[in-house]
Amino acid sequence: MKHIAIFASGKGSNARAIINYFQNHASVKVALIVTNNPEAEVVKIAHSQKIISAVVSKKFLNDEKEMPRLLDAQKIDFIVLAGFLQLVPSYLLNRYSQRMVNIHPALLPKFGGQGMYGIKVHEAVLAAGEKETGITIHYVNEKYDQGEIILQKKLKIAPGDTPQTLSPKVLALEHKWYPKTIEKLLV
Ligand code: GRF
Repeated sequence: MKHIAIFASGKGSNARAIINYFQNHASVKVALIVTNNPEAEVVKIAHSQKIISAVVSKKFLNDEKEMPRLLDAQKIDFIVLAGFLQLVPSYLLNRYSQRMVNIHPALLPKFGGQGMYGIKVHEAVLAAGEKETGITIHYVNEKYDQGEIILQKKLKIAPGDTPQTLSPKVLALEHKWYPKTIEKLLV
């Protein structure tokens, strides 16, 4: 059984999609939810699904003894970032090299990098006059949104699309492809 940890800070809709997908899965288990935000929706989702969750401070996340201890206690093989807004420290990146993935709501390498998250991404895509957008699933390395790309899926931008109409379309694509892609990497 492969044990995954999901790191999330916000609404947690991807975390929910991943948890649902791997419920009763033969070889993958969501064994831990990590957040830096005690108000994050994922904390509630974790409780309702009886998954262990941990609210970690920046200090704890950066602690090279404590954080690995938390992950090792749940035998975490693989880390999934799903809207985790805290910078992942390099000791953790090294420890989980090629075993940590992230999802970005645009077609990287465009519209990525520091500060590019949430609605700002869709605003930038539309301001650039793009005809299509999409999602990128990639390994995580030291540089924001620059790790090796695993999968991209595109969608056409309709005339009249706004950041607000684009956002749910992109999110639906994320929910469809993130769990499957994680499964493919692990099974
Ligand atoms: C998603 O758009 C994802 O691409 C980005 O953060 C957002 C998280 O959304 N990395 P949610 O918290 O999973 O709803």
